[in-house]
Amino acid sequence: MIDNPTLKAIRERRSTLDFTSEPVTDEQVEAILEAGRWAPSALNSQPWDFVVVRDPQLRTGIAIILRRITWAWGGFARVPVMIVVSVDPSRDPDHFVEAGAVATQNLCLAAQSLGLASSWAGVYGSSRAAEGNVEQDLKAVLSMPRAHRIIAVVPIGVAQIERESYRRPLAEIVHPDRFRSLPGAEPEEAATPHRR
Ligand SMILES: Cc1cc2nc3c(=O)[nH]c(=O)nc-3n(C[C@H](O)[C@H](O)[C@H](O)COP(=O)(O)O)c2cc1C
Repeated sequence: MIDNPTLKAIRERRSTLDFTSEPVTDEQVEAILEAGRWAPSALNSQPWDFVVVRDPQLRTGIAIILRRITWAWGGFARVPVMIVVSVDPSRDPDHFVEAGAVATQNLCLAAQSLGLASSWAGVYGSSRAAEGNVEQDLKAVLSMPRAHRIIAVVPIGVAQIERESYRRPLAEIVHPDRFRSLPGAEPEEAATPHRR
């Protein structure tokens, strides 16, 4: 199978929950942010902002809030840097979520390419969490404009433990030409007549 450093980084990136307190340099953070900046977005709207949190008190505060959606808050509190990915929906009302997500993945892959671990705390949509509105509480801690939305918090550091992961096999998820019929799933019908 074809392989190269980009494919290897994509394959080997893991969501890490437990970090050491080993440092991450400003130069490394800059390279990671640069990768986020170069993410694609609809009409090149670039609706993202990145809050880089290094302050230990703020990190602990964020980790405590994130404990509601991820159990490994201790490891998160130790991590030397967290990047909070936010988006301004007014810059891209239709696709701000995808733009924030693709920027987040760029950050994670860039970290991986530098030998650093990362994670993705899924803040967007966490307003449904029974424990309260995680996104709103994080925005308040970070003095973020009310209209902005947080997509994710990405802690970046050195992994304490190497995790394993798994993916559904290609044979299951790839459909040549047309979607294979799924038991109990009705195929979609066209909303508009098909033009030939
Ligand atoms: C949109 C999104 C939201 C996620 N939210 C969380 C989260 O809130 N807490 C958490 O521990 N991991 C979260 N993750 C990480 C996933 O749990 C992880 O990607 C998945 O288990 C596969 O593991 P891997 O990334 O190590 O291969 C999120 C990932 C994505 C893409």
